[in-house]
Amino acid sequence: MANRLDAFRFNVSEESVAVRKVIRMGHPMLREVARPLSQSDLSSDWIGRLIEDMTDTLHDYGGIGLAAPQIAEPLRLAIIEIAGGPTRYGEIPAVPLTVFINPTIEIVDPAAHGYWEGCLSVPGLRGFVRRPQHIKVRYLDLNGDEFELELQGFLATVFQHEFDHLDGRLYIDRLEDSALLSFEEEFVRYLEPKEVPLAAAAEKEE
Ligand code: NI
Repeated sequence: MANRLDAFRFNVSEESVAVRKVIRMGHPMLREVARPLSQSDLSSDWIGRLIEDMTDTLHDYGGIGLAAPQIAEPLRLAIIEIAGGPTRYGEIPAVPLTVFINPTIEIVDPAAHGYWEGCLSVPGLRGFVRRPQHIKVRYLDLNGDEFELELQGFLATVFQHEFDHLDGRLYIDRLEDSALLSFEEEFVRYLEPKEVPLAAAAEKEE
């Protein structure tokens, strides 16, 4: 069996793309608590292939992060890749494609700020969610080595959103006001122009 998998991996060329289906809100697997990866998982044949599939899927769907449960793999594993540069949230630092295994979050400062979040598992919608903006993330890489990352601002929101998927949580669970959930088209037309005053107002509520 191992030999067959090795042979298969050997045949996977750079151009070969395995886009998996991203499951959507309503699929019960999005609501499960995913299981941690063990040391033997990390040295298994399938883990590399799974990460390749997740990367191809992320690129095909055009997201900035993907958690394994979103392709119906209930494992504590997520990938994040952010081009960085100027955005409507200011200058965002780039995050090269990184694999996060068994990640945990420590909130350094609970002061929250809101962003309009979207999710590949909740397509076509945006919702305004406030989250702590200063966190520490601990995780393993594919070799099982431990890493720590300190994140602030928009990146802190992105990481919390992705890792929520590992606990069966979607951003819509964290909406404080269901009036601040919108279809993309209506968001661009009515809400985005008001975004700055809205975010400022939400901050004042704290
Ligand atoms: Ni998501």
